[in-house]
Amino acid sequence: MASANEQSVAHADRVHQRFGELWEQAAIGWTRWEPHLVGSMWPVTHALMDALHLSPGMRVLDVGSGIGDPAIPIAAAIGATGRVQGVDLSPAMVAACRDRARAYGLTNATFQVGAVEEVEFAPGSFDAAVGRFSIIFFPDVAAGLGRLRDALKPGGRIAVSTWTPPDVNPGFALPSRELRKLVELPPSDPTDPGPFRLARDGELAAALSDAGFVDVAVKDVVFYMFARDADAYWEMLQEISAMFREQYAKLSADKQRELEGLIRHAVEAHRSGNVLRLPMRARVGSGVKPQS
Ligand SMILES: C[S@@+](CC[C@H](N)C(=O)[O-])C[C@H]1O[C@@H](n2cnc3c(N)ncnc32)[C@H](O)[C@@H]1O
Repeated sequence: MASANEQSVAHADRVHQRFGELWEQAAIGWTRWEPHLVGSMWPVTHALMDALHLSPGMRVLDVGSGIGDPAIPIAAAIGATGRVQGVDLSPAMVAACRDRARAYGLTNATFQVGAVEEVEFAPGSFDAAVGRFSIIFFPDVAAGLGRLRDALKPGGRIAVSTWTPPDVNPGFALPSRELRKLVELPPSDPTDPGPFRLARDGELAAALSDAGFVDVAVKDVVFYMFARDADAYWEMLQEISAMFREQYAKLSADKQRELEGLIRHAVEAHRSGNVLRLPMRARVGSGVKPQS
């Protein structure tokens, strides 16, 4: 029989493999929608950067960089004497980060393929650690945050974002809400790796405190996912949402058509003049590694 340690290693491998594959498949979509994603999510990036108290010359670790946020704006903010190290499970995402860094002429950002839990860092080598919508996919949040804490210098800061629960996050929850009208799905388990991990009130703060961070602060950040119209929203959803793609692929062709109709109709409720403006509510948590 496998020991508890062997079981947790096997679980971590399965979770890394699952999300590595899902995000790898979504990477082309993310590169296609880069201007949209960057333009929509800037309030979260801003809140994360603000919480890190960035200054020139800092060394920053970005976990789950996707196509480079917030690694790229941080690299620009900390200047040529600073260094950003990004890590992501997906080779295609890492390739996109490198392309974007090159396009912006940033020579102080490097990106590595891997699980942050497994990549080697010299202990105490970063001034700050950040993750935008990535720690929710960790196989074990306590272990992952512990690893980030160990990578930080004493006094180093962490800032991470998660989502808020579906009932207060109508724009983000819209696809799964419409899907549930068509198929019976078990209620999502808020402790499973996925979008609504750490979403319940108090969970993000507790996770940061339990991982040994002090001066923990949490705040909600509202932003809007924009779309020109229902066609654009539908196209974007299919291309960027790793979770949606996974669930959509399991439906029959009839159900897929029905779901598309429901979602196209539902997004129109968010029309604001010439644009659809879907309200998204993120949560940003921050903390400091104690001096001793
Ligand atoms: C929702 S995307 C967010 C990407 C980016 N931070 C952003 O906000 O635009 C989550 C990313 O985290 C990465 N990821 C998930 N778990 C990870 C882990 N344990 N180690 C490294 N990357 C991870 C995924 O591959 C994916 O690219």
